Formats: sequence, C-alpha cells, structure tokens
Amino acid sequence: MKISFAEPKLPARGFVVFLMGGDGELSASAKSLDKAIKGAISRAVEARSFVGKKGETLSVFSPEGRENLNILLVGAGLAKDLDTLRAQEIGAIVYKSLSSLGADSATVLAEAPSGAKTRGADLAAALAFGARLRDYSYDKYITYSDAKALLAGPTRLQFMVKGSAAARRQHKELDHIADGVDFARDLVSEPSNVKSPKWMAAQCRKLTKLGVKVEVLGEAQMKKLGMNALLAVGQGSVRESQMVIMRWNGGAKGAKTVSLIGKSVTFDTGGISIKPAGGMEDMIWDMGGAGTVIGAMHAIAARKAKANVIGVVGLVENMPDGNATRPGDIVTSMSGQTIEIINTDAEGRLVLADAMWYTQKRFKPDAMIDFATLTGAIMVALGREYAGLYASDEALSDKIIAAGKTVGEKIWPMPLDEAYDKQINTPRADMKNVGPRWGGSITAAQFLKRFTNDVPWAHMDIAGVAWSEKELPLMAKGASGFAVRAMDQFVRDNYEG
Ligand code: BES
Ligand code: ZN
Ligand code: ZN
Repeated sequence: MKISFAEPKLPARGFVVFLMGGDGELSASAKSLDKAIKGAISRAVEARSFVGKKGETLSVFSPEGRENLNILLVGAGLAKDLDTLRAQEIGAIVYKSLSSLGADSATVLAEAPSGAKTRGADLAAALAFGARLRDYSYDKYITYSDAKALLAGPTRLQFMVKGSAAARRQHKELDHIADGVDFARDLVSEPSNVKSPKWMAAQCRKLTKLGVKVEVLGEAQMKKLGMNALLAVGQGSVRESQMVIMRWNGGAKGAKTVSLIGKSVTFDTGGISIKPAGGMEDMIWDMGGAGTVIGAMHAIAARKAKANVIGVVGLVENMPDGNATRPGDIVTSMSGQTIEIINTDAEGRLVLADAMWYTQKRFKPDAMIDFATLTGAIMVALGREYAGLYASDEALSDKIIAAGKTVGEKIWPMPLDEAYDKQINTPRADMKNVGPRWGGSITAAQFLKRFTNDVPWAHMDIAGVAWSEKELPLMAKGASGFAVRAMDQFVRDNYEG
C-alpha cells in the first residue's frame, strides 16, 4: 500500500474519510462539505443516530452536488481517549472499512475531535501506521486470483493534515518499524518445507543491505565450539543446524550493548517424544522467537538507530529419526554443564542454552533478552493475550514491560525462584530439560537462567502471542510479529542518545 501525506483540501472524487469523535459532532471539514451537499451527511448521521463510537462507520455515497464523492465517517470514540495507540487502531479500522467497501484508494482527513490527546501530524502518522500494520496478508501461496482479491484492501491512502511534512517524516520512521513487523510475520508464516535452518539464515543475510553484519555458523563450527545441546536438537533432521549472529553498530564504540536471542525451531515435531497429530501444523511458527529478533534487527537498522544491538538466533529442525536424540541421552552444553534430555520436545531451551552462552561469552553484552515460543504452559497461565516475561534483573523487566505498554504489546511479569530451580535437578547430570507437570513455563525459564552466567537477562515466552487465531485490532489472523515494536521501543528508550 502506498501512503502519502498532503495539506488539507477536499478531494474532488473518490472515497473521502472523516473522523468523528464519540460525541456526534462533525469535524470542521465534514461540516463544510455537509453544507455544500445540502445536509446529506447530517441527515444520515441523524437517521442512524450515529455518534462516532469507536469503530462505528457510516457512508454516504454519491451525494447530490458531489456525485463523484463517496463519504465515509469513521467513529474515533471519545476525544479524551484518542491517544497514539487509539489513533493507530482507528487507522486500522479506516483501512478495514475501506477494504469492505471495495475502495482501492482514499483520502483521509486527519482531523482530531476537540480535546483529543493526539492531533495534527502525530495523529496522521499514527493513523497511517495503524493502516499500514493492518495491511498485511500472507497470500504468497494463493494462486486463485479471486481468493487473492478478497484479501486485498486499498492500495493507496492519502492523509490530509496541516503540517504534512512533519507527518511524512514521522511516517518514514514508523514505516521502517512496520517493515520489521512484516518481515517477522513473513518468516513466521512460511511453511516448513521451505523454511529450513539454511533458508532462515539466508533471510538473515538480507539484513546486510541495511548495514547489519551477518555471520553464519554451520554444524562443524558449532561442534568445535561445543554446542552439543543445540546440535542434539537438530541431529534427527536431514537439514543442517545453523546459528546466525547479526550485529548493528549504530552507537558509539564501547557504548552499552544489548543482545536479543531467538529460538528458531523451523519445525517442532517433538522429536522422539513426538507430538500428537492434532494441531502439529502450528509448529511451523516455533521459530517465532527468531522472527522477533530478526524483525527487530530490521527495524533498528532500517531507521539507523544510534545503538549497538546484537541479534543471535539458533536455527534447528526437531525431527524423529534413526539419528535423533533419545529420551535419557545426556549432552554437554557449551557452558560445560551437562543436561539429561528427558523429553525431546522440550528442545527450545536446549537451543537457547548454547545460543545464550555463546552470546555472553563472545560479546559480554550489558543485557540479554531471549524470545521463544517455549512452552504450552505459558498459554495455560496467560492465555493468548499476554506474553510472559521472566527476568534476573527487575529494572530490565520493568523497562521491557514499559516499552511494551508504549507500543501496545502486552507483557506480564512471571516469577523465578530457587524452589523452581531445584525442580530441574537430576541425579544423573547437572540438570534435566524438564521439570514436573506444574509451572512448566517457569521451570523452562529457570533452565535458561543457568546459561546466562549472571549477565542481566530477561526471557519472553511468546508461545501464546506469536500467532493469533483471531483478528486483532492492528493485525489480521496469523503471525503477529510480536515484540518487534516493543524491542524497537526498548532500544529507543534505553540505548540511544
Ligand atoms: N514449541 C513448543 C511450545 C509451544 C506449544 C509453542 C504450543 C507454541 C504453541 C515447545 O518446544 C514444547 O513442545 N514444549 C513442551 C515442553 C514440555 C515437553 C515440557 C510443552 O510446552 O508441552
Ligand atoms: Zn517442543
Ligand atoms: Zn518448540
């Protein structure tokens, strides 16, 4: 979709969109158009008792005197609630309403109802960002053109606002973030026949264009480094495991560095502890953690953030095979700690154990944040609304949650405790890879903590939120690109300037 900005002027033809606050008051430009078309808008508003509640829409097609115009009023809700996040939502609603009207292009008058918190260029940019995020559909493998057309929304939106240059500038930055989100969503949506570890590594290499330094380790190199936990997960697959290191050095030399680490199981069958057939197709998105990391690296590099950020992703496929890891096997991780693999389906933590140890050892980052579709248990705890956040450092946890709030991504703090840590002890090795039945997402986090070497660390379990079964305000169903925006914001808040 092409988005542009211009100074306010009523268009002569096509779809024109006005916002309406929740108090039934037409905006100034809607009022003046209403006059020119002999009250056709106000009549329709009255007939429908339309007040402009959030998401309510009203259309007036081809009114006498302006036969070439189609007017759409979109409810923005009460002015006092119209902040940036609400404005993004309204932008998405504008996009969707135009989509269901079959409009290919439209002009949106970004006029705030009086008393709105977000107005002017900020409002226009937020509306555009919301529309841009909602404009995503994964139609790569759809060949029937009518099915494809059904998914298609408007292809051109023009936002009219006083000070359009400022809106354009803001949009440029936000567009890079949306590109990062969409990149993550593309990766997560890709079917696993295509999405091998090497395919993922090739996707990471695309970031080179943005100035990111990309390095790829293959199995031989990882073997030399002693990454036997990660390699144990991939050894049942005919596809070679990989690790990708992405470095964005936008900040000063020696400035603090944050590292983002992602689980990327390109397909998780469970291995020898094989998963039941029902719903196993969901495991194409078991690389969602890496999706977040790669998408965030994209956003951060594309907008040339003045920060030093490292992204590391562990890429494996978890398959059952004659060569696969067996329950009861014991492996020595890169840290030197030994792990008894009780359940080969608890594989994400094995991948992250080596990825995190490698990251802290090589880069000595000031903080590590890992992202993983790690446990079904986090969905039992938090449903599909909040991601769970574990952290060894409370200040780090607070900053991540705050960044999430700023961008509208819901993240909830979860506990770590010695008492849980003990539950992964085993007499046969330094630890086992699963705890008892209860608190499965917590014992998974405790396992990861043993590989942080006391570097301030946070772990986000995104199993419940990386994919949405329902449409969200800013997203179609499917891959969400969760935490790309939050991480961009986190870097902005804590690592720039
Ligand atoms: N990839 C899964 C977790 C998952 C489940 C992600 C559903 C997204 C949706 C993970 O590797 C896994 O299988 N975890 C097991 C751990 C168990 C064996 C201790 C789980 O959660 O059941
Ligand atoms: Zn698993
Ligand atoms: Zn998994």
